[in-house]
Amino acid sequence: MTAAHITTDPVSLFHDPGAWVDMTAWHAHAAELRTAQPIVSVEDPAYERYWVLTRHKDIFDVERQHELWRNTARSALMPDADWNEVMSLGMPEPKALVHLDGADHQAHRQVTNDWFKPAATQRWQTRIDEIADEFVAKMRDLGGSCDFASDIAQPYTLRVIMEIYGVPEEDEQLMLDLTQGLFGASDPEFGGQGDDMIASALGSVMTFIQYFNAMTEDRRACPQDDLGSLIANGEVDGCPMSDEHRLWYYIIVATAGHDTTSFALTGGLQALIEHPEQFAALQADPGLVVNAAEEIIRWTSPVRHMLRYAHADTEVSGVAMPAGSRVLLSYPSANRDEAVFDRSMEFDISRADADKLLSFGLGPHFCLGAHFARREVRTMIGRLAAELDSIEFAGSPESAEAHFVSGTKHLPINYRFR
Ligand code: HEM
Repeated sequence: MTAAHITTDPVSLFHDPGAWVDMTAWHAHAAELRTAQPIVSVEDPAYERYWVLTRHKDIFDVERQHELWRNTARSALMPDADWNEVMSLGMPEPKALVHLDGADHQAHRQVTNDWFKPAATQRWQTRIDEIADEFVAKMRDLGGSCDFASDIAQPYTLRVIMEIYGVPEEDEQLMLDLTQGLFGASDPEFGGQGDDMIASALGSVMTFIQYFNAMTEDRRACPQDDLGSLIANGEVDGCPMSDEHRLWYYIIVATAGHDTTSFALTGGLQALIEHPEQFAALQADPGLVVNAAEEIIRWTSPVRHMLRYAHADTEVSGVAMPAGSRVLLSYPSANRDEAVFDRSMEFDISRADADKLLSFGLGPHFCLGAHFARREVRTMIGRLAAELDSIEFAGSPESAEAHFVSGTKHLPINYRFR
């Protein structure tokens, strides 16, 4: 295959936060790329060159070859000048699981891995049920209309992960603000752009440091049955985790677990309202909920990309990539790849191929929290299908202006319970 070079639209399709507010247009562009230029070199003065992989097959191949395609401190796209500035202002170099590789990654992942296995997540189901019940009750109390994103999906997903973590309820809002400052910073509602965005991201990390240093002291003195205690006392190769690794461990677990799942849940409900026949099918057959959650996570694909770096000269589907090349794995595009998914642009909770989704990545970095995310989506969607008599939009859904983790940030709805 010959490499395609583009210097105009859709060059900004992947890194311009504004490109993510209209997902219909975004998916139409991505579909064109998959056919005409599936491997694209993006050259924009603000970014060191990166290649975009839009096809399922290419992303699958790169993620599987994890010795060749490595993770680095820069696992998500950020303009080079912003990165340099944020680092010069004192941001500690990122060392979370997504930034590590090989044996180092494996050893650090081991600290919490068992907590996230399917059997281990099962022990949280009763508590997830109770939290979901609380939020369904809140929907009833709200009297027939709400913003499902900010009233229900966000606080519900936040409460689940924070309970597992051991962060008290009164600190949940702080965790939400800090996460949005870090990941959603480009959205004017959460941080802003340019200098505001840098200040917002840096401010979030600095506040996280204070918060989690206190948590470390507390959980070392008095360990509890929670994830915070596991990280505070975590050992790697028989020694305590380094301060930097511990800090970033806390940050990734605190941030990766709720915005992602909240965007999936909100986007999933939006899709069910847009496709009332699918909602009716779920109501008629509650057993569909497992596949419906999978389809929702395929459809919404809230993590928009991860980056990988070539450790040696190589190629992807015949396109030469010298050592040091970086590729952007476009999960939302892979999840609509017509070569893999039957009627890929259709939302179908019964589809047989929903399990081919790449929303959680693949290989050693496969999302640590995938089983929690699935449980949370199933639990809430299942309840809504069982208990709602009707549901409709009460205004236009609004998407977050962010290119890394994003989705529907406001979903005004009217509804009636049975
Ligand atoms: C629908 C919700 C979610 C989506 C779409 C999602 C997506 C992802 C993706 C794409 C990756 C990178 C995979 C790769 O590089 O191959 C990842 C990694 C990760 N996710 Fe999630 N995630 C979700 C929910 C969660 C939850 C609930 C947690 C709970 C703590 C979590 C924690 C993590 C962590 C710690 C990593 C890093 C794993 C590693 O590098 O070893 N995620 N996630």
